[in-house]
Amino acid sequence: MNSNKKTVFDNGNVFGSRLGFILAAAGSAVGLGNIWRFPYLAAKYGGGFFLLVYIILAITFGFTLMLTEIAIGRRTGKSVLGAYTSVHKGFGFMGWAAAAIPALVLPYYCVIGGWVLKYMTMFITGQGHVTAGEITNTAGENIDFFNGFIGEPVQPTIFFVIYLILNAVVIMLGVQNGIEKVSKVLMPVLVLLIIGIAIYTLTLNGAFEGVKYYLLPNFEDFTVEKLFKTVAAAASQLFYSMSIAMGILVTFGSYMRKQDSIEKSVRQIELFDTGVALLAGLIIVPSVFAFSGGEGGAVNAGPGLMFITLPKVFQSMPFGDLIGALFFILVSLAALTSSISLMETVVSAIMEKFKLTRTKACIVVVLLSLVLGMLSVLGYSTWSDFRLFDMQFLDFFDYITNSLMMPLLALLTCILIGYIVKTTYVEEEVLCGEKKFRMQFMYRVMIRFVCPVCMVMILVTPFFVKF
Ligand code: PHE
Repeated sequence: MNSNKKTVFDNGNVFGSRLGFILAAAGSAVGLGNIWRFPYLAAKYGGGFFLLVYIILAITFGFTLMLTEIAIGRRTGKSVLGAYTSVHKGFGFMGWAAAAIPALVLPYYCVIGGWVLKYMTMFITGQGHVTAGEITNTAGENIDFFNGFIGEPVQPTIFFVIYLILNAVVIMLGVQNGIEKVSKVLMPVLVLLIIGIAIYTLTLNGAFEGVKYYLLPNFEDFTVEKLFKTVAAAASQLFYSMSIAMGILVTFGSYMRKQDSIEKSVRQIELFDTGVALLAGLIIVPSVFAFSGGEGGAVNAGPGLMFITLPKVFQSMPFGDLIGALFFILVSLAALTSSISLMETVVSAIMEKFKLTRTKACIVVVLLSLVLGMLSVLGYSTWSDFRLFDMQFLDFFDYITNSLMMPLLALLTCILIGYIVKTTYVEEEVLCGEKKFRMQFMYRVMIRFVCPVCMVMILVTPFFVKF
């Protein structure tokens, strides 16, 4: 076994430092999920209670799954395609799933990245107020800016392509010169931005009510069903937010130096990810509260929250254009560091499998993403009548990856490590960078019993409960 050898890569495919690894992995974890989805789920599922459930799950369930994937990556030193075969010959098919997931997510994530880029450009050029208003579409109806924007094909295509190319440039530069350098610059900027904006929004009139709504547990009409829903919602949010079962952590794990501690790194990545999610909530919930005069309902606007409600909120606050610009810069950075991790996972798999150079593999991925991404772009405009299982393309790709393929892959990973190759496979790798595996006992119990149950719950809950 190669577990005690330092992994050697030829073309700079190794992170230069532990900090570089942590920031790149945290960059992947911190994304649209933290900034847009987490705050509105917390507001919806009882504020502080959701936060508590989320944190408990993060240090148990999230810790276990993240550590497992990173250890598999580092022990095998391979891209996702090769990694699972190395763990066990009979489980090589998991590598294909782990490569297919990011290949399917990347295109539509870049479409959403394009929307964010558009909003950032609007705010930076002083047109933020336009995004808060209505526009007249080609059919002569007055609709809100967001639906007008995505409802026609040209602009969303342009921003999607720009966003995709931005990703490709970083990936072509390689692991150390691209991903690591970008993460080392962007992640500290992101933290400064989010802290700065949070401090500002907390000073707004009426914000305090929002903070209470967000942080204090709300046990009103508390039922067992609600508890079940809260745990299921927190578990699936956590799963997505930590970039689990996307092949990303295996890929980044394979670039991690042997002497670095996996356990410590996982804890720090989780802290980073959860910290940013909590802070995003401290921006969004209080400012929506202040804007709506103490009405909690506006936070539940769901997907429209970021693109429809927030621009109106910025419009109504002092220095709103500036705060809006900073906010959309923040979201763009968060999205970019997530999508580069997706692209790297697919590119590395193609490089390894087809023995292609980084540049060539990158071009293949860009072309593939252009085709799939265009389906998602046009699904809102030219082909808006077309439905796949009653869903638009973007929702369809999102559904099959997040609700089906990812939980299944994570479940199989638990079975593979917990029962087939046994937990020692991961434990030996953790102990390679450290003298002690502090959470070893918890890890064994989690990977064999608790995580599989959680995964089954995430898989089946949507079929029984309406969220
Ligand atoms: N973890 C990301 C988030 O919270 C999700 C994600 C990661 C999506 C990587 C795509 C790629 O938004």
